Amino acid sequence: MRLFHALGLAAALSVASMASAAPPDTLEQRIAACLSCHGVKERGDAYFPRIAGKPAGYLYNQLRNFQNGHRQYPMMNYMVAHLPDAYLREIADYFAGQHPPYATATATAGSGATASAAQLERGEVLVRQGDAGRKIPACVSCHGTALNGVAPAIPGLLGLPSDYINAQFGNWKNHSRRAAAPDCMADIAARLSVEDVAAVSAWLGRQAPDADARPASSLPAPLPIRCGSVPAGGAQ
Ligand code: HEC
Ligand code: HEC
Repeated sequence: MRLFHALGLAAALSVASMASAAPPDTLEQRIAACLSCHGVKERGDAYFPRIAGKPAGYLYNQLRNFQNGHRQYPMMNYMVAHLPDAYLREIADYFAGQHPPYATATATAGSGATASAAQLERGEVLVRQGDAGRKIPACVSCHGTALNGVAPAIPGLLGLPSDYINAQFGNWKNHSRRAAAPDCMADIAARLSVEDVAAVSAWLGRQAPDADARPASSLPAPLPIRCGSVPAGGAQ
């Protein structure tokens, strides 16, 4: 039902954009279409990520990635296909400035709700300490101690459905999600076993972010490995 509704909106948007060469519709109209999938819901929607409050540079990079096929999700590829670059930046800036309440941890736990204590413990160890033996840096070393992300290009990891996180690791592993080289997340995903991915996704999906969670403005130490999508010199 929701998908049908969204498809209707997208069709309306594309008719509107064919009507004239300049961006014809207002930011508000376009954002209303986005909210049919990205709005805050009481119930978890397994694969619809929260975008509000993520750093603008990260959101812009993702809109570009959907536009150029580095990420694949037909509805998203379609929504941004013909949007001019300046518009993508405007949309990214808009959502970065929005801070609606987070969904509850019950809503984002998804299939992580049935994880065992041992799985959750493994997940938390990977998040906070990584696994040096397998060259997996701690997630907090890039995503921030509070996991709220770091401006401008590293997203927060809390408030996302665990099934969405799981699916993204699948995408990195099969190369259907790519970022600018060196693609640090693709490298990290390749080093994580399927069990580790399930453990880390389950743990993350079960955490409730602070109501006032915001991306950090810098990291206390340089990134443990380089990420092409993060401006050189670290996350300034
Ligand atoms: C039909 C539902 C739907 C609509 C409408 C929709 N999205 Fe999405 N969007 C998704 C899904 C599902 C994903 C995750 C796709 C994947 O698995 O990579 C996504 C991913 C994203 C991401 C990446 C999020 C992240 O954390 O990496 C951004 C940014 C985004 N959408 C922005 C938008 C904007 C802006 C609009 C409106 C122009 C929009 N979306 C409309 C379903 C939708
Ligand atoms: C070396 C730095 C670094 C480390 C370590 C790291 N990440 Fe990331 N992560 C990034 C960057 C940069 C991005 C944005 C990639 C892009 O632009 O697509 C990202 C994106 C993500 C996303 C996408 C979020 C979304 O909304 O789609 C997830 C999920 C993620 N990382 C999970 C993890 C987990 C779990 C770990 C620990 C096992 C981890 N990351 C460790 C740098 C890192």
